[in-house]
Amino acid sequence: MRKKREILVTSALPYANGSLHLGHMVEHVQSDIWVRFQRLLGNTCYFVCGEDAHGTTMMLAAEKQGIAPEALAKHYQAEHSQDLQAFNINYDNFYTTHSPENEALATEIYQRLLRRGDIVTKTIEQAYDPVRNIFLPDRYVVGNCPKCDAAKQYGDSCEVCGAHYSPTELKNPVSVISGATPITKASEHYFFCLEKYKQVLETWLSQKHMQPEIANKLQEWFTAGLQQWDISRDAPYFGFKIPGTADKYFYVWLDAPIGYMASFKNLCNTIGQEQFDRFWAADATTELYHFIGKDIVYFHTLFWPAILTGANFRKPTQVCVHGFLTVNGEKMSKSRGTFITARQYLQCLQPEYFRYYFAAKFGDGVDDLDLNLTDFVQRVNADLVGKFVNIASRCAGFIHKNFSDKLSANCYDTDLYVHFISKRSVLEQMFNARQYSKAVREIMALADEANRFIDGHKPWLLIKDPSQQQLAHEVCSLGINLFRVLMVYLQSILPTTAVAVAEFLNVADLADAGLGWDAITQPLLGHKINEFKPLLRRIEYNEVQKMLDLAAPETELKSGAEVETGTKIGVETGTKIETETGTKIGVETGMEPIAATISFDDFAKIDLRVAKIVNAESVPEANKLIKLTVDIGLETRQVFAGIKSAYEPEDLIGKLTVVVANLEPRKMRFGVSAGMVLASGPGGADLWILEPNVQTKPGMRVK
Ligand code: MSP
Ligand code: ZN
Repeated sequence: MRKKREILVTSALPYANGSLHLGHMVEHVQSDIWVRFQRLLGNTCYFVCGEDAHGTTMMLAAEKQGIAPEALAKHYQAEHSQDLQAFNINYDNFYTTHSPENEALATEIYQRLLRRGDIVTKTIEQAYDPVRNIFLPDRYVVGNCPKCDAAKQYGDSCEVCGAHYSPTELKNPVSVISGATPITKASEHYFFCLEKYKQVLETWLSQKHMQPEIANKLQEWFTAGLQQWDISRDAPYFGFKIPGTADKYFYVWLDAPIGYMASFKNLCNTIGQEQFDRFWAADATTELYHFIGKDIVYFHTLFWPAILTGANFRKPTQVCVHGFLTVNGEKMSKSRGTFITARQYLQCLQPEYFRYYFAAKFGDGVDDLDLNLTDFVQRVNADLVGKFVNIASRCAGFIHKNFSDKLSANCYDTDLYVHFISKRSVLEQMFNARQYSKAVREIMALADEANRFIDGHKPWLLIKDPSQQQLAHEVCSLGINLFRVLMVYLQSILPTTAVAVAEFLNVADLADAGLGWDAITQPLLGHKINEFKPLLRRIEYNEVQKMLDLAAPETELKSGAEVETGTKIGVETGTKIETETGTKIGVETGMEPIAATISFDDFAKIDLRVAKIVNAESVPEANKLIKLTVDIGLETRQVFAGIKSAYEPEDLIGKLTVVVANLEPRKMRFGVSAGMVLASGPGGADLWILEPNVQTKPGMRVK
């Protein structure tokens, strides 16, 4: 008998200010497969997650939408939970860091650290927005790099030369929030003395609680020296107030991992409060697994174990780090149309495909994982439909038609069956070690063997010969039994299919007698099955195309309500053009910061031309878009403009306007847009396209 394990598993808590995308789903799928596999083995496995609700970004995102941050967090908690369920990610609890449990735990942990003398205060100087009266996180200040002078760099590091610095060192700094020049302001901050835990961390590091490449990275950080960690933020901030202070809040990353404990604590209302200590006490003998992406290793392998130690809780058993999702070999990108949300995927494709594709890719390393869409279609169709489901579909018909749905009473080739089930121990090791890709390779090799077995015996010929009926029955019955074994092996990857197969095989449940890990040591003999219904169908390329169309950027002017500085309409590229009245012009597609000034050379690159609108049609599927045909002198072009709220298309025909003529053409959901029409105003009905007077000729340069 295997020793039963008791494990608490977490996935990183997604930020509650945006939709889940396929990058997130890679992580949830990896952890969900692991959890389902543990349960299949009969282990006790709790699985929790939730929203990461706090921080400056949350506060500002809520403000932009004119709602309270609590409301924004609630909204995304509901949306994320739905998406996760739709992907068959089976959390026992999907909670939030903005919860009473989390506040109580964060407070308790802080006080324990305080009592140990692990918290010190220091006055530090930070960038401060004098217009909005708020301290600015590094990413909220942009300016010229102090090293190489590159423009539009964030306050923490330069994307051009790679230099690291503090926001106060930037040249020509501006606040992303207001556009104002930040001032430097002093305030008192609370720090956690991480360096006191050097010894503890070094020991923990040597005990293989993470992948070797991550341990090496950590070693580098040790060598560089551990710094005290700033755990406080000044008001206004969305988070928990630090006890004993008037206006200091816990930094979002202090209470975020405590959110794992809080989500579990909340689950204990159902499973029993005594479970909390069993999983979190310093001497707990249960296991704790965190699944995270490679960008948040520092928080989980340094601060988190140190804080847990200081507060007298247990440390993680394993921090399982995965790489990042790329699509067709590149980072997901909104403008390339590869930033695909979980919802967009679900509108077009079944989650089983995604789960299988990544299971077939997942190793235990931290390499990035590519979703190559052509490979995705081919692989899923070839493996799942062509190999796996094929075994059942080619045998089931005969069992149904010729043998009244009953499997043969004996096993035709015991050696073959034993060979199949003998893979259990190696597969168990692979799934446990998160080497899903190796496991899938083994399983698909078995699927090939099963198909070869059927091909070799040709039941479709045997069935025609009355003297071979018995043999046909035994061959097909063994085929079905081999399929059952494979279904059990794939069960944690394909949970929906497993439910349908349990129904088809007429086995009561997915565990124990039916599709359990140990149940398959016994083949189903003389057993009545149900009629076969198609389990998984092939992916069509047009379904993938539909998903890409949904993800393709719909360049739209956003409404004025989302704008802080008067009548701003930002420009997607980070470039800004101003008219005399100070109205900003352009298009916004995201939250990219806007630099305050551009060089004259940058400005000179923009080719502004007078254009005559020769045709205008509403795009029915888009809220804000009008499709324009514009005459720019030498040629006529199609341009999409997000001005539907302000104009009837027919009123635009014949008007002159100004377009950016040398903007890179952009493939949008509804066609290619070759240029951009300039407009200004607060948005909604008050959006004015720029109209040169009637003497101007199409094609004239505007500068
Ligand atoms: N809120 C923090 C985590 C707090 S955990 C106490 C956070 N949130 S996140 O929404 O940005 O990311 C959540 C998880 O998704 C992280 O593990 C992150 O690494 C992962 N991923 C985000 N984008 C990803 C990809 N493109 N690819 C793979 N994983 C990605 O970080
Ligand atoms: Zn630089």
